[in-house]
Amino acid sequence: MKLLIHGGFFSESDQSSETKLAKQSALRTIITKAYAYLESHSAVQTCTYAVSLLEDDPLFNAGIGSQIQHDGVIRMSAALMDGTTQKMSGVINIEEVKNPIQVAQKLMEQGVEDRILSGPGAKLYAEKLGFENFSTETPQRRAEFEENKRNEGKGTVGCVALDQEGRLAVATSTGGKGFEIPGRVSDSATVAGNFSNEWCAVSCTGVGEDIVSNGTACKIVTRVTDGQSLKSAFEKTFDELKTINGFAGAIGVDAKGNTFHLDSHPSMVYAAYDGETLDLFN
Ligand code: GLY
Repeated sequence: MKLLIHGGFFSESDQSSETKLAKQSALRTIITKAYAYLESHSAVQTCTYAVSLLEDDPLFNAGIGSQIQHDGVIRMSAALMDGTTQKMSGVINIEEVKNPIQVAQKLMEQGVEDRILSGPGAKLYAEKLGFENFSTETPQRRAEFEENKRNEGKGTVGCVALDQEGRLAVATSTGGKGFEIPGRVSDSATVAGNFSNEWCAVSCTGVGEDIVSNGTACKIVTRVTDGQSLKSAFEKTFDELKTINGFAGAIGVDAKGNTFHLDSHPSMVYAAYDGETLDLFN
């Protein structure tokens, strides 16, 4: 079993050592809990669980603590992909739900044809399923918004997992760039930011426009599927990202249990755990 999570970039809004320590501690706790969960749950269930914990922590730009858009409203996006069935589900620009990834999970579980919903339609679907109205705004995000403090869209959370049965999955969730034009679509609920098949699973963080322009996650997964090693698929894809001066980070796991992460700029907030060794950003 293998598990990796990420929480955006350390340098995005607060560069104090206190914040760094808090993010390290949060990732350590979340990956430990999520790994224990993986022992008795599938990769898809565990990715949803880990991303829900990340969404619940206001340190990260997803769920509670999401950034605020240009018009003062929070709109969040999240997606889940099951590598075995190769089905993706997601929500784009949903408002006022605590855990967007859980709405994506319901869309997958219910087996509905329309698995990626946006805006008011996504919210209505969530309401019908009993998701309560919940404001994910925090005083810190509101203060940053009032001060016009821009983070340039470098925050997102994500998880990739390989379970006991050898199944792969990925989940990604974001509060977006902050200050974006309402209607802007993040990479997190696209195949560029969140992609898996039976060979590989990849979740991205960074500037959505760069990740989409580079096709990052689906490109890495396709390269591994075609026989490239995980490391070389990451390196080739990030070399291509450099040609557009892109800003991104990604975590990945393949079906053999190899894991990898890479960022175009320091320092991506990530953790990897296999039940014995914890690899944590520093
Ligand atoms: N990666 C998050 C976003 O650009 O919205």
